[in-house]
Amino acid sequence: MKTLILDETQTDIAARILKDGGVVGIPTETVYGLAANALDGNAVAKIFRAKGRPMDNPLIVHIADFDDIAKFHLVKEIPDAAEKLSKAFWPGPLTIIMKRTDIIPKEVSAGLDTVAIRFPSHPVAQKIIKEAGVPLAAPSANLSGSPSPTTARHVLNDMDGKIDAVLDGGSSDVGVESTVITLAEAVPRVLRPGGVTVEQLREVLGEVELDDAVLHQLKEGEKASSPGMKYKHYAPKANVVLLKGSDDEFISYVNSKSDDSVCALCCDEDLLLLSVKTVSLGRRGDYLTHARHLFDCLRRIDENPTVHTVYSRLPSTNGVGLAVYNRLIRAAGFEVIDLEKL
Ligand code: TXA
Ligand code: MG
Repeated sequence: MKTLILDETQTDIAARILKDGGVVGIPTETVYGLAANALDGNAVAKIFRAKGRPMDNPLIVHIADFDDIAKFHLVKEIPDAAEKLSKAFWPGPLTIIMKRTDIIPKEVSAGLDTVAIRFPSHPVAQKIIKEAGVPLAAPSANLSGSPSPTTARHVLNDMDGKIDAVLDGGSSDVGVESTVITLAEAVPRVLRPGGVTVEQLREVLGEVELDDAVLHQLKEGEKASSPGMKYKHYAPKANVVLLKGSDDEFISYVNSKSDDSVCALCCDEDLLLLSVKTVSLGRRGDYLTHARHLFDCLRRIDENPTVHTVYSRLPSTNGVGLAVYNRLIRAAGFEVIDLEKL
């Protein structure tokens, strides 16, 4: 199949393809999504084929108005907490899980009795959803397992020839996927950290738990609350190793490994101090910028076939830092070297 490349003025073409049961790569403020009509199981099945995604991993349903939840009868009941969250953070990088109705195709819910819903803030995403006239199911538009795409070019690198079209809406501002919170249980719980921080969620809801799988590897046989958490994710082809320690320890450890196959994923302040190849996430401590650049950095490292090992600092778990931590620790397969103990 030939993949059409559309620009921001061609949302009508994207909407037409989606209405006809096709699959389109669309920009959102978090990452690019691979969209199809969320109410059409056959259309949604094409997303899984294009991504090579396991069928037991459910998709997020994207809406363009809070009232779409009721209009399309997506959930059994809208909890008070969902209203509060939507007032505070929608449109934006937050996904809310609620008890679903039978309107949701099995391809979207992957056999769960819940559905994940998000109202993105990207104006082009909103326009496409409105013009399509239906909610859109969309996972990140990468091949399953590889870093999520933050530009139309990234989407084409993974999906050219596999999807009907991609619409170029510029680079994604947040850069990591949405925060996923479930309201389907007694206490609200964050299943995936993202652009909306746990601190912000607690300000609105009070008690909010953090799922174990956000920071830790699931033990063998343990069930993932969010099926996506159990897969090795966000990984470039090179081996990612996280280093825990001071800035000086980081620099001297990486320089001691100096050879052609090593690359450091670092901060601007390190660039002159490191003697290996470098890719910078941005200024030290600027977690928003690190999040925005993370996936592009991982993809750029992959473009260099001589790189076999990527060293990075263990990120902070504060604010949006937690989202970067969660992605990098998975990319590293939970491998952390404690430099203080060496
Ligand atoms: O920012 C985002 O959320 C992007 C853009 C395109 O909106 N989408 C995205 O989708 O990241 P995806 O499929 O790559 O990640 C969705 C995550 C997966 O880990 C999935 O397992 C989880 O959300 N998820 C979806 N529905 C769920 C449900 N009903 N219960 C638990 N987890 C769910
Ligand atoms: Mg994904």
